[in-house]
Amino acid sequence: MSPDWLLLLRITRLATITSDLSRSIYQEGIESSLTVSFEERKGIFGLVLIFQGKKTDLNVKQTELFFDNLQIMSTKDGLQKIRAFKYIPDPEFKLTEEFVDMEKERLIRLSREELFNEVKRKNEELLKILDERKKMWEKLQDAHRSLKMEKIKIDRKVRRRTQQFQKAKEEAERANQMKSIFLASMSHELRTPLNSIIGFTGIVLQGFAGELNDEQKKQLEMSYGSAKHLLSLINDLLDISKIESGELKPDIEEFNIAEAGIKIRDSLKIMAEEKELELVFNIPNINIFSDKRRVEQILLNLVNNALKFTEKGKVEVKAHKRDENIEVMVKDTGIGIKKEDFRKLFQPFVQLEYTITEEAGTGLGLYLTKNLVQFLKGSIQMESEYGKGSTFTFILPIEYGG
Ligand SMILES: Nc1ncnc2c1ncn2[C@@H]1O[C@H](COP(=O)(O)OP(=O)(O)O)[C@@H](O)[C@H]1O
Ligand SMILES: [Mg+2]
Repeated sequence: MSPDWLLLLRITRLATITSDLSRSIYQEGIESSLTVSFEERKGIFGLVLIFQGKKTDLNVKQTELFFDNLQIMSTKDGLQKIRAFKYIPDPEFKLTEEFVDMEKERLIRLSREELFNEVKRKNEELLKILDERKKMWEKLQDAHRSLKMEKIKIDRKVRRRTQQFQKAKEEAERANQMKSIFLASMSHELRTPLNSIIGFTGIVLQGFAGELNDEQKKQLEMSYGSAKHLLSLINDLLDISKIESGELKPDIEEFNIAEAGIKIRDSLKIMAEEKELELVFNIPNINIFSDKRRVEQILLNLVNNALKFTEKGKVEVKAHKRDENIEVMVKDTGIGIKKEDFRKLFQPFVQLEYTITEEAGTGLGLYLTKNLVQFLKGSIQMESEYGKGSTFTFILPIEYGG
């Protein structure tokens, strides 16, 4: 950059800073002024600028850097006086009276004109910026307001939903409680007379109350069968309701799983013999800690089903120890189950139409069995091939809660 350019640049900066400072100290209603004079310091001339007016909001640090000396003073009336000194960057410069007069005239004229235009321009710019800011602020306020409204709406919705859920939950709990109370009382009310009916019908059927003719026997056998069916339905329903309501508590004891198997085999031996089915139990002598009555109930349900839905062949019960669990398999060579029915099998009141037998069922056995297995912290699954047979496998921990 040539010295001429440098000089021009410095002069331009001086003019800009002077103009900026003048604008910043100026305020309507406050007497403000700019005094320009020359001064000689150590044989070099410099320019002295005195700004007087309101406190400046300019970056004083930058202004300070530009001048060779800057003093900021507060006057008594709360106004500000800034004295700035700048060496004239032209070493050739010589100060003459003529030059001073000429420059004085020019500067006064120039700076007034400049000041006016500059202030006007900057004011317009400022007004534009202010206007934009105002619009932006209004937009922000609008957005804020609608957000607030949205939040209120959502809060209200959430509150309403929570109340609805709470109400539905309470209603469901009450209904469940009512169901349990109803089932518990009904089971008692129903079981007592039902047991009498079964008992007395049995006695009459056995001929203890005198000879029966064939027709009487047939009719009585039907009522005997219906009463037994009703009793097992009530018992199953009661168990399910107890599990579902969390009322059932496990009665844990140590027992031998092989012995439990023998008990089931003995109670179902007659059924197997009547159907000419082979009933095989292959259970190792393992002691487990669980609810004996419920384990026997699971086994009875599964072996009973296997015998019920098998016309030819055998029913086999096998057990293995697997890590901390015992795995029990009940396998039959019966009707089998179609693949599409696998999923619905463990749901309540499901009886597949192709398995209908003479002996009436309830469709609750497998549902109860699954619930009992889970109640004892185990799991159950089935495999089957339609027309060939089915295998039901349940797994229980050897130590419940262990
Ligand atoms: N071993 C099996 N072989 C074939 N079908 C079976 C077997 N076990 C259960 N099922 C089918 O599952 C249905 C539900 O069984 P379950 O709940 O014990 O009811 P129920 O024995 O009262 O009919 C049965 O009706 C039958 O259709
Ligand atoms: Mg059954």
